[in-house]
Amino acid sequence: MSGKAHSLEWWKTGSVYQVYPRSFQDSDGDGIGDLAGIEQRLDYLAGLGVDAVWISPIYPSPMADFGYDITDYCDVDPMFGTLEDFDSLLAAAHARDLKILMDFVPGHTSLEHPWFAESRKSRKSARRDWYIWRDPGPDGGPPNNWISEFGGPAWTLDPATGQYYLHIFLTEQPSLNWRNPEVCEAMYGAMRFWFDRGVDGFRVDAVEHMVHDTQLRDNPPNPDWVPSMGPARSHIGRYSQHQPEVLEVVREMRRIAQSYPEEKLLIGEAYGTLDQFLAYYGAELSGFHLPFNFLLIGATWSARNIAGLVETYEAALPERAWPNWVLGNHDRARIASRIGPENARAAAVVLLTLRGTPTIYQGEELGMENVPIPPDRVMDPWEKNVPGEGLGRDPVRTPLAWDTGAGAGFTSGTPWLPIDDRPEMTVERQNADPDSMLSLYRALLALRRREPALAKGSYATLQVSEALFCYERRDNSDRIAVAINFSAERQTVPFEGDLLLSTETTGSGPDPDVLGSHGAAIYRLR
Ligand code: GLC
Ligand code: MG
Repeated sequence: MSGKAHSLEWWKTGSVYQVYPRSFQDSDGDGIGDLAGIEQRLDYLAGLGVDAVWISPIYPSPMADFGYDITDYCDVDPMFGTLEDFDSLLAAAHARDLKILMDFVPGHTSLEHPWFAESRKSRKSARRDWYIWRDPGPDGGPPNNWISEFGGPAWTLDPATGQYYLHIFLTEQPSLNWRNPEVCEAMYGAMRFWFDRGVDGFRVDAVEHMVHDTQLRDNPPNPDWVPSMGPARSHIGRYSQHQPEVLEVVREMRRIAQSYPEEKLLIGEAYGTLDQFLAYYGAELSGFHLPFNFLLIGATWSARNIAGLVETYEAALPERAWPNWVLGNHDRARIASRIGPENARAAAVVLLTLRGTPTIYQGEELGMENVPIPPDRVMDPWEKNVPGEGLGRDPVRTPLAWDTGAGAGFTSGTPWLPIDDRPEMTVERQNADPDSMLSLYRALLALRRREPALAKGSYATLQVSEALFCYERRDNSDRIAVAINFSAERQTVPFEGDLLLSTETTGSGPDPDVLGSHGAAIYRLR
């Protein structure tokens, strides 16, 4: 057996960085980020030390849901550039050893997709069955009680043919019918289009909503519902979410990914209970390589709670399944705002030292916070549909601030969302500051690359108390321990080790055996 046989796939030891393309870097002054902008900033990403870049949708779209409403799965929206720009970005990324992951949105198209235009024409249309059409319910209203993820009924009446179409998200996002083999083939074809072009994988969107009960039965009410959960959660998605047929589709996607000489990576987005999202690993790991693990994304930041989540997840993982961790994304509150900026450095240590592939959301490495959006600048349709409940996602999608110049180095025009341009939030300032969040992320990512125990070692909890969560990562005899202080008080580190990295700032002269307020540190155990 050659030595190589033991080396792990790149996506196990590597890390993923999510680019929200509208807000990363604008190259043409329209105030919206684009592909050429991403290419200009590849050195930043390579220098940060990430391995793969997942880019949220860049396909042609009327942008009702900012790209998650697609009119052509095999092209690029002019706002973001051209297919040539994409090829250029891909080549430039590969030249830097960076993988590129696209976002694949299987559940719905745009209302303006030619498929839907044809489907809605008549009940006899050849593509009628590509979407989910039903006669009105007995009272003339929607066929069932399902509620759209963004508020309001999940059904819209199309007067031309007198039927309702299903849309799990916006009215502008009609749900595709994955029970129709033609739909499957068309969508698999789109995946192959990008794989053949050289992309390294996909993050697959909202899979829990992809397939629906054949009888379209009413969902039962959710007794635990509160308005801040959003209208859709007022029911339990028993008949609209996590249907077993989703896994059949995922398995087919995996077969396609496996048909390439270097297997393509599939990361799945499915919110749900632990059992629900772990199921997407598939029997014998025939599903997603990495079903996103969102346990940390809304978790209360306490030692016992976080330790409990980590242990539960580790224990529940299917055999040989590779773990992964996420702190935030373009849909959820910024981690620094959710748990407080004082805890954000420790959270970075947790994300990058737990066992499994981490995904970093752009701006987390700068400690970006939710940016308040004045009412007249609200863009997100969710906030427009359900105002004032804090559901809007604009605050977490604001552009990155690169420097202290005009437009924060993001744009020469007017940015599509306000920018938090405090000098200390800029890449320029944080680059030059060894105590910055950016420097901490770089150091953590470098340490992961250097230390096999962190990249691939086993996990074990060392100690959990009210204030402290300590765990060990072990590769053969090499043992690395991580200590996280969840309290504002100083804590003595409960083991003997040599300090490898600390969140303490240099000026405070770190005492290797003591964790400062909300501090975290990494040691090699003696
Ligand atoms: C996913 C995306 C979200 C989008 C939705 C509909 O949850 O992350 O941004 O609005 O799917 O496609
Ligand atoms: Mg632009």
